[in-house]
Amino acid sequence: MHQMASSLFFSSLSLVLLLHLQATATAQHGAAGDAPAPQLPRSELAAVFRVMADLLGDPAWPQLHPRPCTDTPWPGLQCEVSPDDARVLRATRLHFGPDVATPPCRPGASLDAASLRGLPHLKTLSLFGCFADDDHGVELPPALFAAASAPSSLEQIVLKSNPGLKGPIPATLGGLRSLRVLSLSQNGFRGRIPRELGNLAALQQLDLSYNNITGEIPEEIGGMASLTILDVSWNGIGGGVPAALGKLRRLQKADLSYNRLAGGVPPELGSLRELVFLDLSHNGLSGPLPGSLANLSRLQYLLLQDNPLGTAVPAGVVGALRRLQVLGLSGCGLTGPIPRAAFAALGSLTALSLDRNRLDGPIPATLAALPHLGQLNLSQNRLAGEIALPGEFVARLGRRLDVRGNDELCVGRGLQGSGGYLGAPPCADGRGGEGSTERSGAAPAAAAGGGRRGYRYGYGSVGVLACHVFVSSLVFRL
Ligand SMILES: *[C@@H]1O[C@H](CO)[C@@H](O)[C@H](O)[C@H]1NC(C)=O
Ligand SMILES: *[C@@H]1O[C@H](CO)[C@@H](O)[C@H](O)[C@H]1NC(C)=O
Ligand SMILES: *[C@@H]1O[C@H](CO)[C@@H](O)[C@H](O)[C@H]1NC(C)=O
Repeated sequence: MHQMASSLFFSSLSLVLLLHLQATATAQHGAAGDAPAPQLPRSELAAVFRVMADLLGDPAWPQLHPRPCTDTPWPGLQCEVSPDDARVLRATRLHFGPDVATPPCRPGASLDAASLRGLPHLKTLSLFGCFADDDHGVELPPALFAAASAPSSLEQIVLKSNPGLKGPIPATLGGLRSLRVLSLSQNGFRGRIPRELGNLAALQQLDLSYNNITGEIPEEIGGMASLTILDVSWNGIGGGVPAALGKLRRLQKADLSYNRLAGGVPPELGSLRELVFLDLSHNGLSGPLPGSLANLSRLQYLLLQDNPLGTAVPAGVVGALRRLQVLGLSGCGLTGPIPRAAFAALGSLTALSLDRNRLDGPIPATLAALPHLGQLNLSQNRLAGEIALPGEFVARLGRRLDVRGNDELCVGRGLQGSGGYLGAPPCADGRGGEGSTERSGAAPAAAAGGGRRGYRYGYGSVGVLACHVFVSSLVFRL
């Protein structure tokens, strides 16, 4: 029995065939060697062959993999022993992608509802880079997920990077009550987000990013009570940010960036106490920000750049977000001065972007007191007066301090070793002179060192990089 069991374990390129041989089931089959190896039922085997023919179009596949779960495995197929019967295997995961097949799919490949119906135990369906962008384009037939045919066992649907996958998102997906992950990123989907998706109460991750989705985000999205990650970025979604998002109490990451959302940010978002990452950038959202956002006490990333907020610096809201690490307020039509104490409580802040606004007045020296601030962009505003930042701070940030494009700024005596990259002329005597030595105080040598150091870095986007690292780790955890 042990020998047989071990002969059933195969590991292939990327997947390991998992056979959960159960002690109890094993015991029923008498002496060692008597029990037959678990088999995939004939109907499921036939369905596997049909799906392979639909997608790969390789007529030799059934000959090469007559027993695809056991003796002649294929890395894209995963099988498990049935919990009810140790003699029976079930096909539970089907994955297509460049990692398991070359080329991954034949031209004109399709997904057929009747074939998939033959795999009633499928938990994961994953098609990565399968449908190329050709003249035809493939649609997901609604029948694929319709109640009668749906493998209601489906827990993860990941259809990614299939530019040839076009047409609407089938509303029938909303009937898959076990679904935990729905990722339709980087395809050619069009049309609206179906209201029916709001029925997916077990869904934890919804990723519709990089498609051609239009219409509004339906209020029904509030029904996804288990959602932790929502990404609808890079589409053509219009309307407002729905207040119903405030019902998603488990939400940790929300990315609605690069759409056409308009109107105000709904105060209901202040209820998202678990939220760590909020990206509303590159939309048409107007201000003011609701005060309730001050309650997002776990927020680390707040990205609002390129929205016509048109307010003063929202100090009352963002100044309360003590865990904030990255704050993006570029191109928000902000006016008035930068309040001296606006960011004083943000001890974890690493990147602050206020560029491309209409901010005026001086640069508050208090910004230099933020211990972790490593990137500060104040460029293209109307800031004026002497740059009253300590030389040590200026040296530490190097070129990650960007104050260019503020015509009325000038460099005091203490910073004049900082090279030309600050982009401001020396302060005229009597304007910068006295204040400069008093406030910045640092030795010219330190400032000059900062100039040299600055050249090593260049104008990288530390903040954006940090976001990506963070998002990857969040996805990994789930
Ligand atoms: C999105 O739709 C527009 C207009 O129909 C089209 O030009 C564009 O190619 C589409 N993009 C994708 C990724 O399908
Ligand atoms: C923040 O939450 C508390 C309750 O936890 C509530 O009383 C308060 O009104 C909220 N603040 C805002 C600005 O909505
Ligand atoms: C600061 O913002 C300006 C304008 O958006 C941009 O061109 C520049 O690259 C940014 N600087 C840094 C250091 O990221």
